[in-house]
Amino acid sequence: MEKLVVKGGKRLCGEVTISGAKNAAVAIIPAAILVDGTCIIENIPAIKDVTVICSILEELGAKVEFLDKYTVKIDSSSVNKYTAPYEHVRKMRASYYLLGALLGRIKKADVALPGGCNFGSRPIDQHLKGFKALGAAIDDCAEETGAIYAETEGLIGTNVYLDVVSVGATINVMLAATLARGTTIIENVAKEPHIVDVANFLNAMGANIKGAGTDVIKIHGVEKLHGGTYSIIPDQIEAGTFMVAAAATGGDILVKNVIPKHMDSVSAKLVETGAKVLEFDDSIRVIGSGTIKPVNIKTLPYPGFPTDMQPQFVSLLAASSGTSTVTESVWESRFQYVDELLRMGADITISGRRAIIRGTGLSGTQVRATDLRGGAGMVIAGLMAKGETVITDIQYIDRGYENMEEKFRKLGADIKRIDD
Ligand code: EPU
Repeated sequence: MEKLVVKGGKRLCGEVTISGAKNAAVAIIPAAILVDGTCIIENIPAIKDVTVICSILEELGAKVEFLDKYTVKIDSSSVNKYTAPYEHVRKMRASYYLLGALLGRIKKADVALPGGCNFGSRPIDQHLKGFKALGAAIDDCAEETGAIYAETEGLIGTNVYLDVVSVGATINVMLAATLARGTTIIENVAKEPHIVDVANFLNAMGANIKGAGTDVIKIHGVEKLHGGTYSIIPDQIEAGTFMVAAAATGGDILVKNVIPKHMDSVSAKLVETGAKVLEFDDSIRVIGSGTIKPVNIKTLPYPGFPTDMQPQFVSLLAASSGTSTVTESVWESRFQYVDELLRMGADITISGRRAIIRGTGLSGTQVRATDLRGGAGMVIAGLMAKGETVITDIQYIDRGYENMEEKFRKLGADIKRIDD
């Protein structure tokens, strides 16, 4: 079991380069199943979730070759299986994208229900509603067998209204509709940057998708997709995590390879806490003031404040000079990590979907990463805390952050990975 050991109190300064976006990569790699040819995907983050989804594609019959650490070549012309094995699928939430991609390409999909981070019920009813509207038959026993089986004689374009703004359902229905006959209009869709990235990838391979990034996406089905080369956008949440680290340690960090527009809500909140945020073409510099002012936050779908930045901000505000509230409106239960912060001396009360955070000093102790972003929150807390913080269960952090401790160490953090 590996652990991270962080000695707090260091001011972080220097430059950090952000990797490709996890949540774009874990959708674009399965989207390659729709491509009748070879695609080369660049700026892939070197994280566990990417390794897992690539091995699932190989099991399905695709040829997957890494040309270098960050570039993968995928040839899906030989994909001939439609069953995604549970032992892989259980490791990652985004395996549900295999449903849309396989249905679109080989008209059948048998995919075990997804695993990944656990923060309350994570239904996929809106994905299934979209597939059914497009003409797929879905096995009703899915809940009992632990897998979803879907098949179709051929998907036909239609109108789909999503009852919930869902990133996963938006992308999945878009994947299924790409090769469908006719036009599909998806309404009330999510607008996250990685949704636009997946649409751009598909269009670069010959799809006809319009409106990604707005409330309505229109997909004119095409007969097939051709190969090509595509480069994934930078990771909005990794960038935000380093921006918070600068504010948390009173540091001065230039976060490179970002799209500043994607960071607007995070930048605005950091400025409210007293940090200085300077935007350049593809980088952002954050200068911490040394004192963290309390702020109120509500998580929302993009362009609102991202739920995936919620734990990092709660850790930051735990050491602020007053009382803050953070309301989680995307996930029903995403405060499990707060118990760990309490053990570090934080003063936080949870009331339903709201955390009331009274700023205080944090002290190092042993804590665990309860999930990916909760783990990032623990690292931020450790960087601010007095003494040594030992973080266990860091396999969650490795799912979505590339070389996190090395990037922090280069900025001057006292952080190391130990093998117990
Ligand atoms: N929902 C439904 N029905 C559905 C789908 C979603 O009720 O069919 C609900 C969910 O229960 C939740 C809300 O809608 O309350 C939003 O869920 P969404 O579908 O948008 O989430 P997701 O696609 O499963 C992605 C990211 C998450 C991120 C959320 C919200 C990926 C692989 N995951 O999940 O990222 O929190 O969008 O932005 O893209 C992470 O990176 O740490 C992470 C958890």
